[in-house]
Amino acid sequence: QGQRGGPVVLPTTPAAEAVAADRLTIVYGSQTGNAKRIAEELAQRSESAGLTVRLLRADVYPQRELAKERHLVVVISTQGDGEPPDDARGLVEFIAGKRAPKLPGLKFAVLGLGDSSYPLFCAIGRQLDARFIELGATRFAPLAEADVDFETVSEPWLDSTLKQARELLATASPTVRPAALHTVPDASCYTRDKPFAATVLANQRIVSRDSDRDVRHIELSLEGSGLRYEPGDALGVWPKNPAPLVAQWLDALQLDGAREVTHRTRTLPLAAWLRDECEITRLSRPFVAALGAISGHAELTQLLHADGKAALAELLANEQPIDLLRRYPARWEPEALIAALRPLTPRLYSIASSRRAVDEEVHLTVAVVDYQAHGQPHWGAASTFLAQAGEDATVPVFIESNERFRLPADPARDVIMIGPGTGVAPFRAFVQERQETGASGRNWLFFGNRHFARDFLYQIEWQQALKDGALHRLDVAFSRDEGKKVYVQDRLRERGRDVYAWLEAGAHLYVCGDATHMARDVHDALIDIIAAHGGRSPESAKTWLAELLQQGRYARDVY
Ligand code: 2AM
Repeated sequence: QGQRGGPVVLPTTPAAEAVAADRLTIVYGSQTGNAKRIAEELAQRSESAGLTVRLLRADVYPQRELAKERHLVVVISTQGDGEPPDDARGLVEFIAGKRAPKLPGLKFAVLGLGDSSYPLFCAIGRQLDARFIELGATRFAPLAEADVDFETVSEPWLDSTLKQARELLATASPTVRPAALHTVPDASCYTRDKPFAATVLANQRIVSRDSDRDVRHIELSLEGSGLRYEPGDALGVWPKNPAPLVAQWLDALQLDGAREVTHRTRTLPLAAWLRDECEITRLSRPFVAALGAISGHAELTQLLHADGKAALAELLANEQPIDLLRRYPARWEPEALIAALRPLTPRLYSIASSRRAVDEEVHLTVAVVDYQAHGQPHWGAASTFLAQAGEDATVPVFIESNERFRLPADPARDVIMIGPGTGVAPFRAFVQERQETGASGRNWLFFGNRHFARDFLYQIEWQQALKDGALHRLDVAFSRDEGKKVYVQDRLRERGRDVYAWLEAGAHLYVCGDATHMARDVHDALIDIIAAHGGRSPESAKTWLAELLQQGRYARDVY
């Protein structure tokens, strides 16, 4: 399989290929995976409803076929700065451009995802929706725009779009089509909805005792699962919420955890709902709305109006629900509480090992989210769950493949890897893989963290890899060792001449870690480097870097 080969999740039968009229095409562009997941869910539900579906990532959508398309759904996110996701740049440009075909026969629906704390909220979704109309197409469902609490919009959108699509395709093809298409056969029967119970083999703190943060190296066994992964893939982990947090909730709510609560035909004790079933470490808009209604606090309900958007986004990003339960005491009925909470969702961790090196194991690098705020301890769900998983405990897991983040198909290509903090995880997998396969290309790692003596993740392994010739260059940036902050992008700039020379000679470039600040700053540094050392204008440097993205030679795994 080619490096940017087959993310086609549902195979297309030749018959379906011939009759675009009978088929629903779902295309997604996703940076952090949410748009992808929504598109997959729509595909799965449409297929179960008997529709013929093809699901494609935007960069493998065959642009020639757009003119023939009859029923198209696009699920696409917008990055903070109004840019499309990396995998959708080409398609978005094609549709916006002069060579886009007229689309009088197309019925379409667009779901945009975005973050309303940025001015260009859902810009790409809006742009596509307007452009399709301009090209003569008609909407079969109105444009929907989902904010950071995307489920609020995406869930009703999934229901209504599926309903519309069924009506459309029923009229388009009176013959009842059997649900003939199935997901690509997988060696494993374990999936997101049916996870594998992986046994913990090791759980070690890999920062020194005096580090400000706890970072764990966790090894899990996949033995007997049939689960396979490639370097670049992520492991999905289904957590349970921390017991002390559940206790804090019951205390703040003045409710008895043993009380039986029925929600959607299931009955469980309240404490079990909170620990195993509901999202209680992340705030959502529906929860703020419910708390506003129950507590009668106008300041909460105001956040839901148009002019409260920025404040709401800040609240959602910085506070946990427990903070609001304490700040706005209210008499909750347990049923209303459970109904106001979203279902617990799995967390994705970039895998830190290569199967070639570790066999039936999978390794993770986990930063434990554990901090004080408003004078109280706070925890992250999955990182706390993993940090507390002792040897022989089991963790429910599945593989989330990431076709966009792959080593070069050509082993002779050089790679430059930029991974501060736990963003270094996939590069441990990359270096292991390139060592095991005897790839001849050179490997250059940029790593950053707070303190050299405390937070140099996998220091001994990197040093060994340098000695073994598995790692060719290592540049580190410790931000809190000196008066002035030094970040990976500063090291990149210092090494700008060589970075450019490697890129010019065909190196692949990878960035993993924080999306909001780091990835953007690194991107800007790369543009400067290409301009300075390639003798280009800033505009032409931007274009050059955009081409690398397009060719899959610049890949980002950011969150
Ligand atoms: P800081 O926390 O000292 O500011 C991993 O978290 C490392 O990334 C830390 O050294 C952190 O530094 C650093 N970091 C923080 N913001 C960054 C940014 N915008 N770009 C690159 N690295 C950053």
